[in-house]
Amino acid sequence: MKSLFRVKSLDQLAADTEDPRGQLKRTLGPIQLTALGVGAIIGAGIFSTVGTAAAGGANHLGAGPALIVSFALVAVACGFAALCYAEFAAMVPIAGSAYTYAYATLGELVAWIIGWDLILEYAVGNVAVAISWSGYFQELLRGFGVKMPAWLGIDYRSAADAARQLAMAQAGGDLAAITPGLQHDASALTDAPRLLGIPLILNVPAFVIVMLITWVLVRGIRESAGLNTAMVVVKLAIIAFFVCVGAFFTKSSNWTPFAPNGFAGVSSAAAIIFFAYIGFDAVSTAAEETKNPQRDMPIAIVASLIICTVIYILVSLVLTGLLPFHELGTAEPLATAFSRLGMNWTAGIIAVGAVVATTSVLFVFQLGQARIFFSMGRDGLLPAWSARVHPKYRTPHVTTIITGVGVAIFSSVTNINEVVELTNIGTLFAFVLVAVSIIILRRRDPHRPRPFRTPLVPLVPLLAIASCLYLMAQLPWVTWRRFFVWLALGLVVYFVYSRQRSRLAPGVAQPAPVPEA
Ligand code: ALA
Repeated sequence: MKSLFRVKSLDQLAADTEDPRGQLKRTLGPIQLTALGVGAIIGAGIFSTVGTAAAGGANHLGAGPALIVSFALVAVACGFAALCYAEFAAMVPIAGSAYTYAYATLGELVAWIIGWDLILEYAVGNVAVAISWSGYFQELLRGFGVKMPAWLGIDYRSAADAARQLAMAQAGGDLAAITPGLQHDASALTDAPRLLGIPLILNVPAFVIVMLITWVLVRGIRESAGLNTAMVVVKLAIIAFFVCVGAFFTKSSNWTPFAPNGFAGVSSAAAIIFFAYIGFDAVSTAAEETKNPQRDMPIAIVASLIICTVIYILVSLVLTGLLPFHELGTAEPLATAFSRLGMNWTAGIIAVGAVVATTSVLFVFQLGQARIFFSMGRDGLLPAWSARVHPKYRTPHVTTIITGVGVAIFSSVTNINEVVELTNIGTLFAFVLVAVSIIILRRRDPHRPRPFRTPLVPLVPLLAIASCLYLMAQLPWVTWRRFFVWLALGLVVYFVYSRQRSRLAPGVAQPAPVPEA
């Protein structure tokens, strides 16, 4: 029993990072780190899922113009969590993020659960983002007159859904519902080549972009961060374009009624748009590649969250002012809003913004997932090869490639709606555990130097816990069921493999002493 709660001391964790054979390269400063945060945050959430949040969807009530309230509420919840992350990231600047913090405080079993849970945030989240990337990329291609066959750019379930909707619209004579987009998606089912009778429908652009990003990430963190900063500049410029141009076309009549579904609509939308905020915590996975993590981690985590909150509030205000809210429920609401107002020429610009934005999200999350696996490998909870560092590029290439191949395969066959909510529940759960860990460590080790201190402990962590649990409660039961299945699978892996191999297990070799420089 005791072994389940064995903790790895913070000093031991820090000492592991000193082994020169497994060291990452420290090159990042505060600006690049904040850009990494903004790069991780602004993406599929604001360019895609925001439409369902405003208008409502299968499982959700829409917030209507009160979407802005949902964004503000989630920002407050994330703010509490960010203050907790900032304390840990400065105190334990180690690549494993929440996984490592839990290892130092709540013990190995909880650390494992968190590490396993973070796969939902990083890898599964990226599956959603890659699918969104592919949608906007194909729209961009269409703008240039290039049309990909539908069966090469969609997943089976989306094609089957489209075929069903088309058949219903045709049977009911609902001509307005028979859009070119619907016909195109449905054609995947009839046009796809078949293997043993099964239609081969694959989202190829989603697969290719993930593999390309994996290649860049293996090559090196500095080159990668430079590319990320450039992408962040482009996406901010295009969002500024949306807000500035859109502001002239807003109509105050679209803002009434302000909250058509009351607080229930606001809360339900909040649980979806939480996806748009995920990423400020991903900054912490670059801790071992930061020059001065004690100072720069808290700055980057808090600054990136504040910047994105301001942007989201402005975008949601303009978006809901452009069209009646029930018309916003499309997969690309920002482009829809402009094109319904007759500004078709802007659709291409928005598509470029979305493609760039989602590329940078993919990039930071691939980076983060590989580093979490790397940390778990270093602790012995995953096989030793996962902690290997490339001799030339000094990047965790093995975990980067495995993550890349896994995410690429899943994003070529998965439906986006299934993965967004799973990512949200997993991430919220990680935030809860980080906040719990802050309270525990303040009691257990009150004198440890804390370069950044979460204010008003235990109040702020308790508020983080309460607000994240509240958002989790808004998610549908089917998401909870998948979440429990995922955690149960993780426990099996832990008890069958990781527990015996842990570097804290009796008889398992400890790391070799670090050679003198
Ligand atoms: N926050 C990230 C996005 O919206 C995950 O794409």
